Amino acid sequence: MWSDNRIPVQSTPAHDHPIKRHHSARYYAHRVKENLTTRVSKLICAIFLFLLFLVGLLTFILWLSLRPHRPRFHIEEFSIPALAHAGGFENAEIIYNLTTRNVNQNIGVYYDSMQMTVFYEDQSIGGKPLLFPFYQEPKNTTVIAGPLGGASLTVTNQRWEQFLAARGRGEVVFRVEVTSIIRFKISTWNSKHHRMHANCPAGVGPDGLILPIYRDKRCPVYFS
Ligand SMILES: *[C@@H]1O[C@H](CO)[C@@H](O)[C@H](O)[C@H]1NC(C)=O
Ligand SMILES: *[C@@H]1O[C@H](CO)[C@@H](O)[C@H](O)[C@H]1NC(C)=O
Repeated sequence: MWSDNRIPVQSTPAHDHPIKRHHSARYYAHRVKENLTTRVSKLICAIFLFLLFLVGLLTFILWLSLRPHRPRFHIEEFSIPALAHAGGFENAEIIYNLTTRNVNQNIGVYYDSMQMTVFYEDQSIGGKPLLFPFYQEPKNTTVIAGPLGGASLTVTNQRWEQFLAARGRGEVVFRVEVTSIIRFKISTWNSKHHRMHANCPAGVGPDGLILPIYRDKRCPVYFS
């Protein structure tokens, strides 16, 4: 044990200031004690650092497993039957069906409010509040479906002409945006409110029905 830790009697090149010979016994006893103290404090330091590392690792693993995932939105259906006829748009209606899935294993989602807006060339052509406040269990898929028409749809004559022109070129591309205020429920703890946006492109063909390439697509989701 002591063999590798002998008291240096002679100066070695490693020392900054060479040790003079002919020291008293008390001097050497003091150095042994000093040496021991350094070793003990080094050991305590090492144990402390290791514990710190362990706590950090556990926190990281916990965070990875508890970290909430954002809900997943898909667009299943979107159509404007009135587009199939050359006639007017007075009774035009959008039929929509979106789904939102809570992909989390143990985390619930409160939707405190939800608003849908439909855009054409980045200008709103209508919208309405959706659902009532609801709580979504882990792994649950909720359907958001219905018609959007009447006062909720604000299409002008001029805009309808633009739709018809686009229809003539093969597709009319809309964008459905669903803005929700959500909270995550982790065990008994509720997170703060987050404003979440899901953006779904929806192109309809000349028959007024959603084109296959837009159907059942996952919509990008971001927070603001
Ligand atoms: C909406 O789409 C989902 C998934 O395809 C389907 O299960 C559901 O029946 C549809 N709901 C309506 C009202 O169309
Ligand atoms: C998801 O939750 C809603 C509301 O609680 C419920 O009506 C629906 O049946 C659930 N869906 C599934 C797939 O469990």
